Amino acid sequence: MHSFLTGLQKNICFAFLVLLLLPGFASASNAMQAEKIVKEQCTVCHRINGEAKSRFELKAPDLMWAGVKFKRPWLVSFLTGNQENIYQKNYRWDESREPAKHLALSEENAEAVADYIKKNLVDPRVKQDAIDLTHFTELQAGFGRQLFIEHSCTGCHQIMDNGKKVGGPQSTSMFNSGKRLDKDWILRFNSNPPDFVPHSGEFVADVSELGLHYVTGFLATEGDDSFKFYEPWKSEYFKKADANRGGVIYKEYCVQCHGAKGEGDGPAASGLEPKPAVHAKMAMDQMPMDYLYNVVYYGGKAVGKSHYMPYWGLTIGEQGVADVISYMRTTFKGGEEVAAAVGEKAAPSGDCPQARKTKSAPSKFLKMQNPLKATPANIKAGESLFQKKASPLACAQCHGKAGNGKGPMGGGLTPAPRNFTCAATMKDLEDGQLFWVIKNGSSGTGMLAYQGMKDDEVWKLILYVRQLAK
Ligand code: HEC
Ligand code: HEC
Ligand code: HEC
Ligand code: HEC
Repeated sequence: MHSFLTGLQKNICFAFLVLLLLPGFASASNAMQAEKIVKEQCTVCHRINGEAKSRFELKAPDLMWAGVKFKRPWLVSFLTGNQENIYQKNYRWDESREPAKHLALSEENAEAVADYIKKNLVDPRVKQDAIDLTHFTELQAGFGRQLFIEHSCTGCHQIMDNGKKVGGPQSTSMFNSGKRLDKDWILRFNSNPPDFVPHSGEFVADVSELGLHYVTGFLATEGDDSFKFYEPWKSEYFKKADANRGGVIYKEYCVQCHGAKGEGDGPAASGLEPKPAVHAKMAMDQMPMDYLYNVVYYGGKAVGKSHYMPYWGLTIGEQGVADVISYMRTTFKGGEEVAAAVGEKAAPSGDCPQARKTKSAPSKFLKMQNPLKATPANIKAGESLFQKKASPLACAQCHGKAGNGKGPMGGGLTPAPRNFTCAATMKDLEDGQLFWVIKNGSSGTGMLAYQGMKDDEVWKLILYVRQLAK
């Protein structure tokens, strides 16, 4: 075979061989360079092996598990000096000094060091894919966030809330923990923090297995815009949903409150305030799927409504929820009045003046003034929230497109949603009263609490609502 190759061809072949090997040489030498940097520079402050120790015996956080703890892009960015300090105050709680700027490497060295860390600083206790987030929903991230607050985590870790940093800045900041930390590492760490940071001010919380899943999912996704939350209402379960099976579920589980025909008159109803929604008077086929799913699977409280509406997910599963929703959407269309109300024009005007028993807001709220001006841009932003964007549910679903209280769900609620077109009722209500009800709901009624809504969004909504009565 070799006899077919001329000298020139041989040289070309040789050149090819060198070219093929070069990247290998380059990466081998990069790896050696990286090892040198880590062992000579990083270990001046960090440990890369040994048992977990108290921070009071350390100069810097331990790195022996750094390869499974950090996401690579964040690591490279941190090592090139492009990340904020993780500890707002010094790692060593030495407040007499400004937190020192971390040593920064060149892009090339940072890449090589990140590779070295990923390959060598691993921890067998952290199992890959120990937590599965392929079915993690946005609402579950919200539960995780709530648990993070309720279990004192914000006592030592800061998060962003309503555009502000909240919590005690003692330990690591979690503003973009989803970009920084690996999900499986967070799970293992949260399962028993002293395995990693003993006698270091850490805290062991009493959280259920499901709670651990939510908190871990929250931290693993916080600030990571690239994470795609699971949307159950787009899943196979909904493609296979069966209204007949759903009818059986409705009879077995829902009728006890919502009544045999969805009239809200089941045996439990007499003792409940708010009353179970009168499904027969709701246009369920026009209600958004995400809301229906969330209120049935996770219960009233999860969407800012009454805890009397139970969370059914654990009882009937995802398929059961899909089936019962399919049953409700084919059965409950709201009757003629709703059909007219949701049509383009012919909206029947709501009662005016409207009977109103709503509790009065605490005086500190009543004194609040809308800090925003009624500019066209602000009113337009309010309109878009009202008609479409407000989460978990657009206001128009209950208050109606025209604001007269006759939305697809309006007819099923007692008391009825406020009729914003009625000046006689609206003129006496302070801005602070509206603000308080939007944030906290009106307890004992179908008006839900928009707890997570930003203050300026609430004020924009109020500007929009105000001009409906003119
Ligand atoms: C002069 C001491 C010092 C040196 C040298 C040093 N670090 Fe650090 N490192 C720290 C301190 C202190 C922190 C905590 C900083 C903060 O609040 O952001 C830290 C944080 C880190 C973190 C985040 C750790 C965590 O658990 O949150 C990583 C990763 C890291 N360093 C890697 C390195 C690497 C790789 C090198 C070598 C290229 C290195 N460090 C060199 C002191 C040092
Ligand atoms: C009393 C203070 C305190 C509380 C409360 C606390 N932590 Fe921590 N947390 C720490 C300390 C200390 C560390 C170790 C890092 C360090 O030395 O600051 C840590 C580290 C972590 C880490 C590793 C983070 C990283 O960026 O390196 C996670 C994840 C974490 N905590 C989650 C939680 C969760 C979840 C809760 C609530 C259930 C919680 N923490 C409550 C003090 C606290
Ligand atoms: C223990 C009583 C009870 C049972 C059982 C019950 N619900 Fe409810 N449900 C309520 C109450 C009360 C409300 C109104 C909550 C509110 O307005 O704050 C409600 C509200 C709802 C709503 C939302 C309407 C709205 O105004 O937002 C839907 C949809 C719903 N239930 C579906 C179901 C389904 C499906 C089942 C059976 C799988 C079921 N409910 C079983 C008490 C119950
Ligand atoms: C699930 C149905 C529902 C949705 C969605 C809803 N509301 Fe309501 N809303 C009601 C009901 C029912 C009342 C009447 C409560 C009462 O009588 O106390 C009400 C009352 C109000 C009031 C009157 C407060 C008062 O003191 O009289 C305001 C303001 C209000 N809602 C604003 C909003 C805004 C803004 C949104 C959207 C961000 C919204 N609502 C979404 C059902 C709803």
